[in-house]
Amino acid sequence: MSLGNDYNTFFQKSIDTIKRDGRYRTFIPLERLCGDAPYALWHTAGSPVTQEETKRVIVFCSNDYLGMSQHPDVLKTFHEAADIYGVGSGGTRNISGNAKVHVELEKAVASLHEKEAGLIFSSGYTANKASLYTLGSQIPNCIIFSDEKNHASMIHGIRQSRTEKHVFAHNDMTDLEEKLKTQPLDRPKIIAFVSVYSMDGDFAPIKHVIDLAKKYNALTFLDEVHAVGIYGAGGAGLAAALGCNHAIDIIQGNFAKGYGVVGGYIAASHLIIDFVRSFAPGFIFTTSIPPAVAAACQKSMEVQRQSDAYRKQLFANVSYLRDELTKAGVSIILNQGHILPIRVGDALKCKILCDILLNDYGIYLQPINYPTVPMGEERIRVTVTPQHTKEHMDQLVHALRILWSDLDLAKAA
Ligand SMILES: Cc1ncc(COP(=O)(O)O)c(C=O)c1O
Repeated sequence: MSLGNDYNTFFQKSIDTIKRDGRYRTFIPLERLCGDAPYALWHTAGSPVTQEETKRVIVFCSNDYLGMSQHPDVLKTFHEAADIYGVGSGGTRNISGNAKVHVELEKAVASLHEKEAGLIFSSGYTANKASLYTLGSQIPNCIIFSDEKNHASMIHGIRQSRTEKHVFAHNDMTDLEEKLKTQPLDRPKIIAFVSVYSMDGDFAPIKHVIDLAKKYNALTFLDEVHAVGIYGAGGAGLAAALGCNHAIDIIQGNFAKGYGVVGGYIAASHLIIDFVRSFAPGFIFTTSIPPAVAAACQKSMEVQRQSDAYRKQLFANVSYLRDELTKAGVSIILNQGHILPIRVGDALKCKILCDILLNDYGIYLQPINYPTVPMGEERIRVTVTPQHTKEHMDQLVHALRILWSDLDLAKAA
């Protein structure tokens, strides 16, 4: 298609299409106030936030899984570090932006995963994209085997590397092995996968992947973004919970979900970390995270390594809410983990459902649409935190029970 000079017509048509399909994303202006979790103030008149009306709503879709973004020790560390170091890092890691706290955070990450070294990035997205891009583009004749439900950041890194890739059916070890078999044993290979899949909440068969990687001489790259802080002793992730973190070559994680801050990382051998550090544009050519942020990340990890209390409360809540949602007959997608996805299967209905929840019930859930999930798989993705009480969860179940019937939504299979 040629745009000629009419760029605006093109932009407008594209936006109109996604609006018509119910896929247009509306950001809800919220203020998550410290000490008030799981509530947030919703500015009902929209952005920019000024003096308009506000309504207090219960948030049921945050990835701040443990509520660590408001933990008093994390806040104190953050404030103190900002007072000492200021708000910006001053440069890239190579040129003036390498603070002592960055180095300490990398040591903490390595220690958490029992690896030799760690490397931090500005986000989990960048950690995945930059690492997979670098490995795929630099290792001669490399071939990457990628789970079909891998996160967009992994897919983009792999794609951009322009190396050969084979997408295997989600969690399907027979398909993975069939694909591995076609390649010479001595050809460099990477298997890239996720431990806890974000939109279905299901787990990867990590041990099985490791066995295949050994058999076919492949490196393993595991995204633990939705698992760190949540699973395993001290929150070291799902591979650690299964006792097989040593057998994974590269563990990727972030600080934004279980740890409630921001930033991403990889943990691996000294050599792999040195390699990525030396060749990844997404690491080299960008300003490092603010030292106060790095200090807050480290404190949050430390809190979670010292106590299981938040994890225990989280899982007690997950178990209660899953049981109640199941009893209510909503089409919950069952999994072994802490994410509670509920299939709606229609973009417009998903949006209507979320609008009614927000306006009439004071419950904030965001519709999840294509391209985050395939069309027809639209859903709400419920996350509960240790701060949610039984009353909060009962309110959600009550509202969903009514709306499921009012909107004539599919029942659980
Ligand atoms: C599986 C997975 N990996 C990576 C990321 C990116 O992490 P970040 O939000 O830190 O960029 C996400 C984000 O939701 C994710 O779901």
